[in-house]
Amino acid sequence: MYELNPSQEAQHTAVRAASEFSDYLKGLARARRAAPGEDLISALAQIEELTEDELVGTCVLLLNAGHEATVNVTGNGWWSLFRNPSELVRLREDLSLLPTAVEELMRYDTPLQMFERWVLEDIEVGGVSIPKGVEIALLFGSANRDPEVFDRPDTLDVGRADNPHISFGAGIHFCLGAPLARIELVESFGALLRRAPDIALVEEPEWNPGYIIRGLRSLDVSCG
Ligand code: HEM
Repeated sequence: MYELNPSQEAQHTAVRAASEFSDYLKGLARARRAAPGEDLISALAQIEELTEDELVGTCVLLLNAGHEATVNVTGNGWWSLFRNPSELVRLREDLSLLPTAVEELMRYDTPLQMFERWVLEDIEVGGVSIPKGVEIALLFGSANRDPEVFDRPDTLDVGRADNPHISFGAGIHFCLGAPLARIELVESFGALLRRAPDIALVEEPEWNPGYIIRGLRSLDVSCG
């Protein structure tokens, strides 16, 4: 969905999966409308103004937007810590650094490298004229290492206090789930640091292919 120039086969598989998933959600919504539970789909199914398509779209957005980026911050973040062992020790010895560490891991290796925008009026950015109607790419990964904004941008500093990274985007489309993602990440990094004090890398990971979504295929670790 996000990557540049997906193959025909990938497009067909995606369309088929989307339509199957949409049917699954419609069935689930009908079942929850008939017998509501405590869950989000039951709550959405009770809203009369929401059409079936809007309900499906909302669920897909929340699931896709809410899952993969958080997974990839977790994988990329642990890989960053293993590559910077003194920062891993520093964090392990002072878990009060978790909130700044999570922001720093998101800055250092963001899971979403690029988003696109359509230009609605002629603008000039940094001396470059950009005409109305073109599509532009915003490189979040690059902005997060901007030496004019960040002191020692290529250094991982789990205690970095001033960290205006843009891994959650900016402006009107700023990530809806940012507060939830921050809680999830502080909790999951904290739980692993506490419960697996000897966690160590088994082998260097491979990256998933992809230009926009940056994440590992897997990260093999041992726990002592
Ligand atoms: C660390 C994890 C996450 C990262 C890095 C992330 C990143 C982003 C980014 C960069 C955008 C802006 C996209 C754009 O400008 O076009 C965005 C939007 C969004 N995110 Fe997240 N996100 C994360 C977690 C979540 C979670 C947990 C949820 C929901 C449960 C979520 C829901 C959304 C939604 C609904 C939008 C669209 C907002 C809009 O267009 O108005 N995200 N996210």
